[in-house]
Amino acid sequence: MLAVSNKLTVADLPDSAIRGKRALVRVDFNVPLDEHRRVSDDTRIRAALPTLEYLAEHGARVIVLSHLGRPKGKPELKYSLEPVSRHLAGLTKRRVRFVETTDTDEAMKATLSLPEGEILLLENTRYLGGEESNDERLARALARLGDFYVNDAFGAAHRAHASTEGVAHHLKPAVAGFLMEKELRDLGRALADPERPFVAVLGGAKISGKIDVIEQLLPKVDRLLIGGAMACTFFRAMGLETGKSLVEDDRVSMAKDLLARAGDKLVLPSDAVVAPSMEAGGHARTVARDAIPADQAMLDIGPRSVEAFAQEITAARTVIWNGPMGVFETKPFDEGTRRIAEAVAAATDQGATTIVGGGDSAAAVAQMGLEDRMSHVSTGGGASLEFLEGKPLPGVAVLDDARG
Ligand code: 3PG
Repeated sequence: MLAVSNKLTVADLPDSAIRGKRALVRVDFNVPLDEHRRVSDDTRIRAALPTLEYLAEHGARVIVLSHLGRPKGKPELKYSLEPVSRHLAGLTKRRVRFVETTDTDEAMKATLSLPEGEILLLENTRYLGGEESNDERLARALARLGDFYVNDAFGAAHRAHASTEGVAHHLKPAVAGFLMEKELRDLGRALADPERPFVAVLGGAKISGKIDVIEQLLPKVDRLLIGGAMACTFFRAMGLETGKSLVEDDRVSMAKDLLARAGDKLVLPSDAVVAPSMEAGGHARTVARDAIPADQAMLDIGPRSVEAFAQEITAARTVIWNGPMGVFETKPFDEGTRRIAEAVAAATDQGATTIVGGGDSAAAVAQMGLEDRMSHVSTGGGASLEFLEGKPLPGVAVLDDARG
């Protein structure tokens, strides 16, 4: 049973509800592929394995649905899940079949001949017209592919699509998988009952994408550390020169209001790494935040800011981190993000609960090989953000409640 969201999980199903039955499992295998169309980061696939293995071990015939990329309701080879099926076959000892068809009747035939303990991955759900519009007829057709439904796709739980939401109205029981359970529990606990000091670290390019998270976290946290280009919108609100930095002009007054309300809870960088452009890393230099030259852009937080942020982070008992501190894909602007990741890892070592939102910050942590030193790295980018914003996730809301 989920501690926070109170939904049934696969572990609540009796053996008789699983053995011999077709488990229709929605996962988020939206993973990056390299130029040879090989999976280049399999974090999301590995994260779904406990649910797939559990079901197979208990004698289910495991039918897996996922989207990949954003094809618009019709097949596009570059978004085929075929490379993902090969990768999955390499991770599990079980036989993995793949069905290319986008005809749900044909897919159903394949599900009926699937032996117990085997896995069948169906082609990209977004090849199907009606997936993203949550078409009722498609939802019913998908429901016929299984005897019960499992949603383990936390990363897509903020989407009310036919395979993440609609289908669960027509196929019961509809329960959460282990990854979904862990994501909701770890993120939920950190928000509901954080051990203090509770520090949130937010970064990324735009304040507009994070405003609801800021509003949600501000009353709860002891400190809110803000890095990334979004800090520049606050700098502008303080009347500082921001040069060529990314500033959202239409959010400056909102930033002003936040600064007034937050008091010393909200901590901004005191210095910045600036350069004429992202390509001009060789010309990067550190300046105080009130000395950003008119012809330069802030592309990372500076070393004094790193030190101040790291001090807050290592003294915390709960840390939530979402968004990079600078342009972390490009040296030397990765330094701030790298040092913050190390500080969060050090806090975990000292017993703090540390939660890393999916997307860019998760990618940065993976790039640095620090995943194992975080309490929880979310597999959801948009989903973890919406969860932190306090919004209900449609893919979760539709699942069966544990009581009543
Ligand atoms: C993600 O990568 O965040 C999820 O798979 C959702 O993908 P989407 O933003 O294309 O819906």
